[in-house]
Amino acid sequence: MKRSNLSMLPFFFFFLLLTDGILLTARATSCSPKVEHDFLECLNFHSEPSQPISQALYFPTNSSYSSVLQFYMRNRRFNESTIPKPQLILTALHVSHIQAAVVCAKSHGLEMRIRSGGHDFEGVSYVSNAPFFILDMFNLRAINVSVEDETAWVEAGATLGEVYYRIAEKSNIHGFPGGMCPTVGVGGQISGGGFGNLIRKYGLAADNVIDATLVDAVVASWIGVNGEDLFWAINRRRRLQLRGSSCVQNQAC
Ligand SMILES: *[C@@H]1O[C@H](CO)[C@@H](O)[C@H](O)[C@H]1NC(C)=O
Ligand SMILES: *[C@@H]1O[C@H](CO)[C@@H](O)[C@H](O)[C@H]1NC(C)=O
Ligand SMILES: *[C@@H]1O[C@H](CO)[C@@H](O)[C@H](O)[C@H]1NC(C)=O
Repeated sequence: MKRSNLSMLPFFFFFLLLTDGILLTARATSCSPKVEHDFLECLNFHSEPSQPISQALYFPTNSSYSSVLQFYMRNRRFNESTIPKPQLILTALHVSHIQAAVVCAKSHGLEMRIRSGGHDFEGVSYVSNAPFFILDMFNLRAINVSVEDETAWVEAGATLGEVYYRIAEKSNIHGFPGGMCPTVGVGGQISGGGFGNLIRKYGLAADNVIDATLVDAVVASWIGVNGEDLFWAINRRRRLQLRGSSCVQNQAC
């Protein structure tokens, strides 16, 4: 791709799942069939009946559980039998699955770890010492680029490489100032600020987010934030992160 003539997508719509739901309280629960049954009932009750959530659930008894767990485990250090395992993996297929996950995590005292579909070398999205489950976003990875508007809607499970690829398919003079590693998940990158080669001219990935739709951890509702205080709260968080030195270390790949 010719880069000399690069003009930026100044505004990016971003389908963002805030990570505020991660630190839900944990209470000791064992992985018994009863817990499994109750949790499943809760998920069914709180999700859209036309989008069966059962098709997105992998309990340890499911023969695909290990392969789903290991697929996005990019650090083999965590692929050991001694490492705590999730009580289930919810590979959300629909936004109501995310809402149900938030509601039921709270009511069942389970910690929810969100995995966005990219690389996570630190294991924070798939390992915990508290009883937990994984909300896996890899199925929600649509990318709709509109060159006319110079915007795109990106779902949180896409990787940066996929975003760059979809932009390049439509234009060789546009880009997006995300990170340098194509395997980084968009959800994690943008919610951490996100810097890459284009930062000098265009700032952080988060600076180029102009709208987001998110599941609020308190009410588990599905809300657009454009023009609302919440949107500015997201950006304020970015600015604070930019000032903190940890941002730089977290982005290294
Ligand atoms: C495992 O889970 C998937 C997704 O819910 C389901 O389609 C499949 O039938 C399950 N397999 C087993 C062996 O339970
Ligand atoms: C994880 O370990 C299992 C069993 O030891 C192995 O089959 C699998 O290939 C490993 N996966 C990764 C991603 O290292
Ligand atoms: C992308 O476009 C398709 C087809 O128009 C639509 O179904 C989908 O919801 C869009 N996804 C996003 C994230 O905008």
